[in-house]
Amino acid sequence: MSATFDDLENLTVQFVERARAATNSGEIALVETELRSKSGPFAALQRSVGQLNPEERGPAGAALQAARASVEAAISESRERVSVIERAQQLDADRLVLGDVPMGGTFPATVGHVSAVARTQDELEDVFVAMGFTVADGPEIETDWYNFEALNIPPAHPARGMWDTLYLEVGEPETVLLRTHTSPVQVRLMQDAVASGTLPIHAVMPGRCFRRDTPDARHLMAFHQIEGLVIDRGITFADLAGVIDAFTKAYFGPDMSSRLRPAFFPFTEPSAEFEITCAICRGAGCRTCSHTGWIELGGCGMVDPAVLAAVGINPEEYSGFAFGFGIDRCAQMRHQIPDMRALIDNDDRFLRQF
Ligand code: PHE
Repeated sequence: MSATFDDLENLTVQFVERARAATNSGEIALVETELRSKSGPFAALQRSVGQLNPEERGPAGAALQAARASVEAAISESRERVSVIERAQQLDADRLVLGDVPMGGTFPATVGHVSAVARTQDELEDVFVAMGFTVADGPEIETDWYNFEALNIPPAHPARGMWDTLYLEVGEPETVLLRTHTSPVQVRLMQDAVASGTLPIHAVMPGRCFRRDTPDARHLMAFHQIEGLVIDRGITFADLAGVIDAFTKAYFGPDMSSRLRPAFFPFTEPSAEFEITCAICRGAGCRTCSHTGWIELGGCGMVDPAVLAAVGINPEEYSGFAFGFGIDRCAQMRHQIPDMRALIDNDDRFLRQF
């Protein structure tokens, strides 16, 4: 028994040395397992303590505990040393080297561009500015009065059904809506001109309009119109027809025709629908023009005397014409886009063409 205890110092030195010599956490774990194992040398010594003479037991137990403690100390020192090394090795192994990682995407990023609709609006403005018009705009959120009443469409008038209106607030203090057309800007311009004494008016008013409508090949719920208004002395329907045709040829090309078909709008009298040759089939008939060969661009007519009177312009002295047509529709014809919804679908392959 005592001979075994005589080996304690050697055993301890041996374990401490092994712990210190360890170069990785696996080797350290092996030393620790042996130190604690029930079938290991330290557990055997522990069991033999009970067989010693009673007076030897105390010192033997203490010596064993001290031996264990010094091995544990060597193990934890070693663990600290090895963990520093192993962390450095790990970081080294994880280092990213250019070329290790696939570079996704396109580089440098591509630059966006003005949308087909915005560019069309710019081009339309240019055509009208060249013809002597100025450019104005007005709010997209309008009151019922500007969108309807001042345009000779009283509340509950059946003509309101012509516009599928999106209302924001109904009733007191005022009914507020998303404008269904750019015609309310006409009213604002006439009021301003009367207030500042700057008649006559020759202006176009482009902008966004909204209708509660089901989008199809020729209609969007949020779309763009350009309104035109001329108020002067001696303006006739021939001036209107001349401006429409000059515009058609200037913008779409000299081989394109325009035609006016009798129509009704509460704010113009007489009124007409303004159509141009379908640019997609060149008049032969296709899905886009419902096989008619013509595409309706918008409406027009002579400003109704009641509208002039409502804003304080004397209909005996002044007359005028107005028109309003779709900018998206112009983009569609100009770029021969069979379905207008492509303009808002956000398909990069489509949009990149413009
Ligand atoms: N505002 C009418 C519409 O959107 C078009 C129009 C404008 C008609 C001007 C006549 C005069 O349907």
